[in-house]
Amino acid sequence: MDDRIDVRGQAAVVTGAATGIGRAIALRLAADGMNVTIADLNEAGAAKVAAQAAEHGGKTLALRVDITQAADRERMIAQTRDAFGRFDVLVNNAGIQIISDPLAVDEAHWDRMMNVNAKATWFACQSAIRVLLETQTRGRIVNLASIAGKMASTVLHPAYNVSKAAVLAMTKTFAAAYAAKGIRVNAVCPGVIQTDMQDAVDAEFAKLQARTPEAVRADRLSRIPLGYPGDPDMVAGAVSFLAGNDGRYLTGQAINVDGGILTY
Ligand SMILES: NC(=O)c1ccc[n+]([C@@H]2O[C@H](COP(=O)([O-])OP(=O)(O)OC[C@H]3O[C@@H](n4cnc5c(N)ncnc54)[C@H](O)[C@@H]3O)[C@@H](O)[C@H]2O)c1
Repeated sequence: MDDRIDVRGQAAVVTGAATGIGRAIALRLAADGMNVTIADLNEAGAAKVAAQAAEHGGKTLALRVDITQAADRERMIAQTRDAFGRFDVLVNNAGIQIISDPLAVDEAHWDRMMNVNAKATWFACQSAIRVLLETQTRGRIVNLASIAGKMASTVLHPAYNVSKAAVLAMTKTFAAAYAAKGIRVNAVCPGVIQTDMQDAVDAEFAKLQARTPEAVRADRLSRIPLGYPGDPDMVAGAVSFLAGNDGRYLTGQAINVDGGILTY
């Protein structure tokens, strides 16, 4: 069967794309030739990334989106269709971390974590798949999970671990449900990637453990077989592969981009 795709001129939405990994993904998909919507709570940051992505020659759109809000999730896809005339790819990248001892997790912590990382991702997948089915598009969804969804990579972001396991479970579920329609749903599991989120995590861990952020960082790095933290670009490369032609025979997968920490 010839199921090749050409992503040039196709349309992608990347959530949480004002900074960090999401920014790198938006720039990479633009470099691949896609028109890209940069959706983030941080509107000014999104606009900056949209301008940079446009240097690759495609169209871009910056939107202020809170992915926990149903109306915003619907709007980011609708406005993408209005601006680019189509919708092909959703990258669910927006996410948060809250650092805490497991026994200190209260219901507000749990709800916030699950609302942003798990619930919003589930319903964004739903919105995307509805449009892909309606337009008979062989679309792709890539969800940003984490190695924390496969192992308790640390016990100090306990509900985060759970939220990312939920992302992996929903990735497999949507993949199985819509494979016959040609819609592919995969996940990427970053390890330690150098971003604002990672800096914040080191600072919070240091406070909880009465250590310096440098000591926490050294400890984290010592567990990476390749010996150094990843760059957002490395994660973006995996997303580009999964969203593109070379990944066309993959669905329901969860690819680790972690310097060798996990081998499953
Ligand atoms: N950095 C790492 O080492 C690492 C490791 C594993 C997984 N991840 C995952 O990769 C993704 C990106 O991580 P990052 O390190 O780039 O994070 P980051 O904190 O640097 O960026 C996250 C972006 O998401 C946006 N965001 C947060 N809540 C939002 C909401 N409700 N609606 C819209 N946008 C929202 C923020 O404004 C920010 O621009 C996350 O899902 C994270 O869990 C990161």
